[in-house]
Order: sequence, then C-alpha cells, then structure tokens
Amino acid sequence: MKRNVVGASRLRGTIQLPPDKSISHRAALFAAISEGQSVIENYSQAADPQSTLACLRQLGVSVRKEGTTVTIDGAGRDGFQEPSEPLDCGNSGTTMRLLAGILTGAGVSSTMIGDASLSGRTMKRILDPLTAMGGVIRGREQNFAPLEIGKGEIRGFRYELPIASAQLKSAVLLAGLFSEEPVEVIETVPSRDHTERLLRLPVSHNGNRTILRSDRSIDLPVQSYPVPGDFSAAAFWLVAGAIHPDAEIVLPDVGLNPTRTAALNVLQEMGADIEIEPSVSDGPEPMGTITVRSSKLRAIKLDPQWVPNAIDELPILMVAMSFANGRSEITAAEELRHKETDRLSAMGRVLSVAGEEFSLRSDGILIQGRGTHHVRPGVYDSEHDHRIAMSAAILGLVADGPSSVDRAEASDISYPSFWEDLEQLSRTE
Ligand code: S3P
Repeated sequence: MKRNVVGASRLRGTIQLPPDKSISHRAALFAAISEGQSVIENYSQAADPQSTLACLRQLGVSVRKEGTTVTIDGAGRDGFQEPSEPLDCGNSGTTMRLLAGILTGAGVSSTMIGDASLSGRTMKRILDPLTAMGGVIRGREQNFAPLEIGKGEIRGFRYELPIASAQLKSAVLLAGLFSEEPVEVIETVPSRDHTERLLRLPVSHNGNRTILRSDRSIDLPVQSYPVPGDFSAAAFWLVAGAIHPDAEIVLPDVGLNPTRTAALNVLQEMGADIEIEPSVSDGPEPMGTITVRSSKLRAIKLDPQWVPNAIDELPILMVAMSFANGRSEITAAEELRHKETDRLSAMGRVLSVAGEEFSLRSDGILIQGRGTHHVRPGVYDSEHDHRIAMSAAILGLVADGPSSVDRAEASDISYPSFWEDLEQLSRTE
C-alpha cells in the first residue's frame, strides 16, 4: 500500500504510543512457561507480538484477548504440546530466537518458519550455542529457518556473547532454564535487559563483565503488569519534533529502561530540546513522559558502546544527523545489515531520495548534515521494513511538497497506528 505524506507546517499534539514490542513478546513467552495466570495489560496489537501469541496457542497454551488485555494460563516449563503444524513466526526475529531457546530447552519437537525476510536472516548465532549446550536444533542450509527442534538435554554452560544481542542472550538464558546445572551468559557490551529483569534472573558484575545465570531451580514469576509505550516508536516523533521548525510533541507512558534509551542521550547531546518526566510505574519497567520541541542540532560521532542500546533507533537517528550542523558518524553498526532488511543499504537509498549527503561504510555511515533545512519531496520504498517505512515518512513530514512511501503497511509490524498518529500531529486546526 502506498501512503502519501505532505510536508506539515507545524507538528503539535500528544501521542499515545503503541505498547513496547520487546516487552510484549517476553511478557507472553514468560507467562506461558510460568505456573500461574498472568494478566498482561496494554499488550501490543502489532503483527510481531501477535505472531508470538499465535505460536503459543499452537503449543497448547491458553491465551485470551480482551481488547489490549491478554490473559495467559501458564503451562509451566514442561507443559507445551507438540504442535501439529509449523510455528509461523512471520517477520519476527524475537519470536523465532526467544521461542527457539525455550523449545530447544524443553525438547519440544517442532518446526519454526518465518516470512521471506526472516528466512533470509542468519540463525547461526543461536544454533551454535543451543547445540553446544546439548539442545537439538537444526536449520536449513545449516543456518536459516525453517528450524527443526528435537529432544536434547541441556547441560551446564558458560557462554561469552560474541555479539551484543539481546535476542541471542535471551535464547541461551531461556534454554538454560531447563538445565539442572547452571548456565552462565557473560556480557561485555550491554544490550536490552528485559529478559533478566522480567524473569528476575540472578545478575552479578565483574569489572565490565555482566554475568547472567539461569537454571531449572529458578522460579518463573507470573507476568501481570501494563506494558509501557514503545521507546523505539517514540524515537520517530522525537526526531520529527527536533528537526521540524515548529513542533511540540508530548509522549506519555513511554518505557524508559536505560538499556533502551541511548537514542535519547544521543539526541540530547546533539542539542535536542527534550524534557523527561519519570512517572511511577506499576510494573518492573521504568516509564515517563517525554516532550520534544523544535531544536537546532549539532553533529555527533556516536560512541560504539551505545550502538547495541540504540540499534533499532539508528535509522531514524540518521535522519536527525542529516539535520545537524556538521559531519556525524556511526561506526560498529554492522548488525544493521542483519535486521529485517540490510538497514544500512536501505537507509542509504532513503537518504538519497531525500537528497542528503552521506557515505556508507561496511559498518556504519558518515552523514554531512545541512542544519535545519527542507527536504526535497520524493517517492520512498519501505522495502517491507517497518523502521525504514517510518523513517522515510518523517523525511516526508519535513519536505517541501508531497512525498509517498510504497509498501507503507510495513509499519504494522511494530506500530499499526503510525499513519493516523502522523496525520493527527500534522493537523493544523
Ligand atoms: C530485540 C533485540 C534487538 C532488536 C530487535 C528486538 C529484542 O535485536 O533489534 O528489534 O526484543 O530482544 P538483537 O538482539 O539481535 O540486536
């Protein structure tokens, strides 16, 4: 579907963000392996977290939806039924990698499939450790979905993460929940900590090493809390507000987990006019209200340590960088090439359409920012990637005329009401 975007003369309003995608997946998966009943409020209606619910149902888990409240009766660690059909993870890497950790740990014979994009993303990173710890899991041509899971026995395991990836960390820890002996994951570059936080896993520190542990003796808590608004969705409006010459946007109830909000620090360092008001959260994740106003941005060299924390926000931060005065730089971000699309190349095509000056590197990008300016209108293509669709839309919002985004429905993967929210913000009356 094609969506038209017209350059807006001003941006004003309050946006109720979609529920966090990463937390929704985890709330449902962890509820399913707990012993009690979980009532998850504000569960994401987006396609990816809905894929997780569909897979859980196929595994015999009772999942009831009433509006955005999802009630799950925990099946316990060993309560899944073997599914009669392949488990379809759709476009969702988080569903595939986290659920593969659980099913391999539990030894549930099953097949996991995904759409064309997911079937082209390497699963080697999870297959190697899951096999080394005693699990039985195989991929097509070694490394790709469909994944075939069989019965194994998880042994004690110590694993230093070779890539800063929360999906990889989670897959190993979740398989570890089925081991009689301790499974330890060592992290040197922090990535989002929702898994260890929501499961209350033991965490210790040794210098710059974080050691996370899981094993069968750990009690799995029920997951009854409201899911906060998605910071990764907020990032689109933070950048829109900062680069637009006449903007004030308020974002209530947004998740403020510090392992997710590096983009906030980056934008503030660039000089963005952002106010943060923490609120009292009913759940395990910090929340608050963020307000952003029109800003003059300075260029920035992104500290590579921040990359895993801002990985999903890098496409929209590239848009902010083209509005900064001077040359910005992102390095150590090769992981962007392994997302729903190769996001470095895809953003290169988006920035070219907008007439921005940049040069791509194998692991990042240099952007010659032009300060506050109007972008030339253009015809963009999401390439079926939600974050590319939304980044292109924000460029359209600050353009001198009408632009369009092809395959715009990609935004449904994480943010189904994105286009309505965009329209609401640009309304002038
Ligand atoms: C996610 C982790 C990140 C992120 C993805 C969601 C998660 O992937 O890009 O959108 O929920 O754990 P990696 O951990 O592979 O970097």
